[in-house]
Amino acid sequence: MTILIKGGTVVNATGTVEADVLVDGEQIVAVLAPGSQTLGSIEADEVVDATGKYVIPGGIDAHTHMQLPFGGTQASDTFETGTTAAAWGGTTSIIDFAVQKYGERVEDGLAHWHELADGNCAIDYGFHQIIGGVDDESLKAMEGLIDEGVTSYKLFMAYPGVFYSDDAQILRAMQKAREMGLLTMMHAENGPAIDVLAAQLAESGKTTPYYHGIARAWQMEEEATHRAIMLADVTDAPLYVVHMSAKQAVAQVAWARDNGKNVFGETCPQYLYLSLEKQLGARSDEWGDFEGAKWVCSTPLRSEEEGHLEAMWQGLRTNDLQMVSTDHCPFCMKDQKELGKDDFRAIPNGIGSIEHRVDLLYQGVVDGRISLPRWVELISTTPARMFGLYGKKGVIQPGADADIVVYDPNGHTSIGYGEGKKHHMNMDHSAWEGFEIDGHVDVTISRGTVLVADGEFKGTKGHGQYLKRDLTQYLT
Ligand code: URP
Ligand code: ZN
Ligand code: ZN
Ligand code: ZN
Repeated sequence: MTILIKGGTVVNATGTVEADVLVDGEQIVAVLAPGSQTLGSIEADEVVDATGKYVIPGGIDAHTHMQLPFGGTQASDTFETGTTAAAWGGTTSIIDFAVQKYGERVEDGLAHWHELADGNCAIDYGFHQIIGGVDDESLKAMEGLIDEGVTSYKLFMAYPGVFYSDDAQILRAMQKAREMGLLTMMHAENGPAIDVLAAQLAESGKTTPYYHGIARAWQMEEEATHRAIMLADVTDAPLYVVHMSAKQAVAQVAWARDNGKNVFGETCPQYLYLSLEKQLGARSDEWGDFEGAKWVCSTPLRSEEEGHLEAMWQGLRTNDLQMVSTDHCPFCMKDQKELGKDDFRAIPNGIGSIEHRVDLLYQGVVDGRISLPRWVELISTTPARMFGLYGKKGVIQPGADADIVVYDPNGHTSIGYGEGKKHHMNMDHSAWEGFEIDGHVDVTISRGTVLVADGEFKGTKGHGQYLKRDLTQYLT
């Protein structure tokens, strides 16, 4: 099966070029100048007209949580529903977090994640490993991760009693990571201190979702980020700080980088567009004050007035932040977020955005905040390089997997769950209701198979293959 994508503008992280892209089987085999003689002689099985459109490498969302058991329930997207929604939104690979809970074997946690994903994904998928209980046994198990194609793992400085690691555990894990070449991903918030603040607020009757954002103060993110950087520095291990939202924490990452440390920062669409004031403040829909639960996630949404949102955009412009992932962790309001109706501490943490990341970041281009190549770098190329997929993924070039999105800059996308615009994520609401977006994912192709075209899903669960990943390309 050959596909010729004709007449479009190919956008890579390195720049743009008018070119036609030829796909043979699962791979891109040629990027051709328009009107070239070779082109005239090609009779492809299928021709996609990309005139006036961008032809970009498929999105890679490097931070998702399908079916995560969390907060007394489980994230509402399965690997099937979540990866199908991803395809609709121009994402062709995810890296999800396999979970090791305290007292469980790492190998068992990883095997369980394979069982959940195998045969159920519409797009390709890889895994990071959550280490929820650092001890002699799990440190030993970390030695086997690279052979499994899992070259990064996550620790939590938050959520005591759930996934939390103390400083001694973090130090020992980072030493092991340094030895093996694993990349340490850190949830950097001072969990024990946050839990005290949260308890004090709840005990004084401040129980609405808004106080989730107050308890998880920016100081708690800055402090933990700094501590993680110092622990990484003393072990000479690279560090990747996940889901950053506080401008002071980004300043810590910037400082570390300016001082030659191998430290990277990730933010998420919610920290670029949504705020403590607007989303968690007083609301008046059917859920009343509880509506803010839709936006309870950690790190929390922060104050726009205090400049946190602007600081995330600035970080993306200056490369103090390198990555934008969704931290896709959806929960329905009904029966899930509702668990915290009387106490924000019981609201399961997480927002669902896997379908919208490519579109939402494109608004940065529309608004003149980032360039077209930087958009592609953020949604695809850097995740590929950071997590050992580049060459196969993250670029339109001969030899790469034919993971391709045809993006229409003159199209329009109405995001939401309400009348006439139901998204494809398994959620009973949208954190993005009412977002009207310039641009539209017209065609999504994964390894030469058309998944989305003509406003229809043509993919199948089980098309997606497990990605055995290489080491990060940002390590020296
Ligand atoms: O609120 C969030 N971020 N939920 C997902 C779990 C995590 O900490 O990434
Ligand atoms: Zn986290
Ligand atoms: Zn997460
Ligand atoms: Zn369109």
